[in-house]
Amino acid sequence: MIILVTGGTGYIGSHTVVELIQAGHEVVIVDNLVNSKKSVLDKIKTITGIKPTFYEIDCTDKEALEPVFKAHPFDGVIHFAGLKAVGESVQKPLMYYHNNVLSTIYLSELAIKYKVDRFVFSSSATVYGDQEVPFVETMNLLPTTNPYGETKAMSERILKDAATVNQNFKVSLLRYFNPVGAHESGLIGESPNGIPNNLMPFVSKVAKGELEILSVFGNDYDTPDGTGVRDYIHVVDLAKGHVLAIEKLQDAIEIYNLGTGHGVSVLEIVSAFEKANAVKVPYKIVDRRPGDLPAYWADANKAYEKLGWKAKKTIFDMCKDSWHFEKNYKDE
Ligand code: NAD
Ligand code: UD1
Repeated sequence: MIILVTGGTGYIGSHTVVELIQAGHEVVIVDNLVNSKKSVLDKIKTITGIKPTFYEIDCTDKEALEPVFKAHPFDGVIHFAGLKAVGESVQKPLMYYHNNVLSTIYLSELAIKYKVDRFVFSSSATVYGDQEVPFVETMNLLPTTNPYGETKAMSERILKDAATVNQNFKVSLLRYFNPVGAHESGLIGESPNGIPNNLMPFVSKVAKGELEILSVFGNDYDTPDGTGVRDYIHVVDLAKGHVLAIEKLQDAIEIYNLGTGHGVSVLEIVSAFEKANAVKVPYKIVDRRPGDLPAYWADANKAYEKLGWKAKKTIFDMCKDSWHFEKNYKDE
């Protein structure tokens, strides 16, 4: 297939591009580089031998996007492009709604116009809101605590409605749990600007000595060790899930959780990181972070039954690969 990957120079996008190329697909990337670097294209070439075609375009610029659809006979779109900082979305809600929702509308309009019948969307476990665990695809969406989460829920609804009335437009909504880790080459990974908000990049920077100490947000939750529990998934497993989701897309609307099905606590991550990499990660317990849920993980059965996809990599792999990337990473 020829696949348009928006946000393809970003963290999850770049890993997915590698897996798509290695599965024999042709990839065209559109990214405005707001949160990634063009040098990722050379890293993809080093890993796969192929440098994908790249357009520096903003997905909220429909006029600029349309010629890309004219130039390439796409079989599918994987739409990663989006802003993802939860705290920033509270401060700048309109920027988030504009960027994340408008890009979804324009890309689906163009996909329908140019008869591109497969559309895979990056959604998030955050759309489940606060309900019983494990989260299952059949659950209703509940309000999230921030505009970022709402852009995901809105985009899901928009795509579902569009797929309902356009016979040849099939949509796969992929709800990611907590993606971590990096490609085993150490060439691509997650390199957030400034101080990371998420746990694994923070832990890596503490281990490297760039940040002094990890703040563990609360140890009084109703969890085995009192710290928050999440379903961490290796980004390469996640990327492989996209390849299967687009290859096997059949129904008008398909929804899959992409997680391991297991919860891991903050202190378990710290301990696994120290053991996997023979490093120290000093930490202190601080207050809970507002908006955090105590514990959630995926019911990951559906993706296995329908797509034959299962996360294979362990917490040890996630910690090892995160550290390998962090040690190698140069800001270029
Ligand atoms: P990322 O920031 O590394 O990648 C997103 C890419 O999209 C970046 O390269 C950025 O430059 C690009 N982009 C943003 N807005 C754009 C626009 N208007 N036009 C063109 N390009 C644009 O983030 P990621 O972690 O790789 O996330 C990819 C997708 O997955 C996002 O939609 C994100 O919301 C979603 N998601 C991520 C996580 C996570 O934990 N990383 C969890 C759930 C869902
Ligand atoms: C956050 C977002 C979620 C988004 C996801 C991936 C919130 C409320 N949720 O999820 O919408 O999809 O990132 O981008 O922001 N922790 C610490 N110390 C830290 C950082 C995190 O103890 O410095 C803890 C958290 O309290 C949590 C766990 O580590 O229990 C994971 O946190 P994080 O990596 O930020 O992901 P989520 O909060 O699950």
